[in-house]
Amino acid sequence: MSRKKITIVGAGNVGATAAHWAAAKELGDVVLVDIIEGMPQGKALDLMEAGPMEGFDVNVIGANDYEATKNSDVVIITSGIARKPGMSREDLLNTNKQIVQSVVEQVVKYSPKCIIIIVSNPLDTMTYLALKTSKFPRSRVMGQAGALDVARYESFIAMELGISVEDIRAMLLGGHGDDMVPLPRFSTINGIPVTDFLSKEKLDKIVERTRKAGGEIVALLKTGSAFYSPSLGAITMAEAILKDKKRIIPCCAYLEGEYGLKDICFGVPVILGAKGIEKIIQLKLNDEEKALVKKSAEAVNKTIDELGLR
Ligand code: NAI
Ligand code: 2OP
Repeated sequence: MSRKKITIVGAGNVGATAAHWAAAKELGDVVLVDIIEGMPQGKALDLMEAGPMEGFDVNVIGANDYEATKNSDVVIITSGIARKPGMSREDLLNTNKQIVQSVVEQVVKYSPKCIIIIVSNPLDTMTYLALKTSKFPRSRVMGQAGALDVARYESFIAMELGISVEDIRAMLLGGHGDDMVPLPRFSTINGIPVTDFLSKEKLDKIVERTRKAGGEIVALLKTGSAFYSPSLGAITMAEAILKDKKRIIPCCAYLEGEYGLKDICFGVPVILGAKGIEKIIQLKLNDEEKALVKKSAEAVNKTIDELGLR
């Protein structure tokens, strides 16, 4: 069996860290692409030289063009600018739209059968742009948001309770913005409802912190945004696809009527396997949850409209 091939475009904080996770997990050979000459090659070589210590048998190479990316199974796109303090994800739209569009055109040319995972922000809008640019079926273009946002939510629950993160299973819907919708009613600790452990007041605080978690890191770092957990979010999705795991992970997916939404890329739980998004799972929401989803979708739609593709 030949090795799988993963291309990661953008070898900055998120891209290089994603390459690190992918190599450490031995998911396949990795190609790291960036426009900065020498930088992806240098980071790739550095990672290869870590191989003997960690014992991973994969090749990591860097490139400034797409020849080496040919016939990738999964392509993770992280190229673009990141947030600085005072900036929202939406402020990145104009710069990142040019970058993501040109990158997707190259990716599709060299890997027409690949599955694309978008990380660049504003996430839901860049996923929409990638889907339309690639002309791929919706099962093969998705965005990384929910894996990360849910992990943040789970981390805050674990921190509050002093219970292992391994036993926390939370759920979350919506756009990758401050209106995202963490769902306490669908969150458990080893099957026990989280509401049995935490008061409404404490849960509300955790939900609010989850919504603003990206900004919390930006305010601390001052020069950029989070990258350890976002990159692992993308690699968790890639792993589910490459190993055909059929995991249920909230991802940014193109909706065609699910959750009452159409022609939008939006965070929903999906089954991820070898074919990409193999099924969108529709949760039975109550009226309060439906209203929150509607608000989040309105925010996402506003930014997608700015692309002028509809
Ligand atoms: P970074 O600035 O460290 O890296 C971005 C890299 O993209 C740079 O190395 C740059 O040279 C490269 N790049 C720019 N144009 C390119 C092109 N046309 N082709 C190839 N490479 C190109 O930024 P970082 O922290 O890695 O973030 C990357 C993106 O991911 C940002 O848009 C950020 O907002 C987003 N992000 C999304 C998250 C999510 O959960 N979806 C979480 C964290 C970041
Ligand atoms: C994050 O959530 C900024 O989207 C980035 O950390």
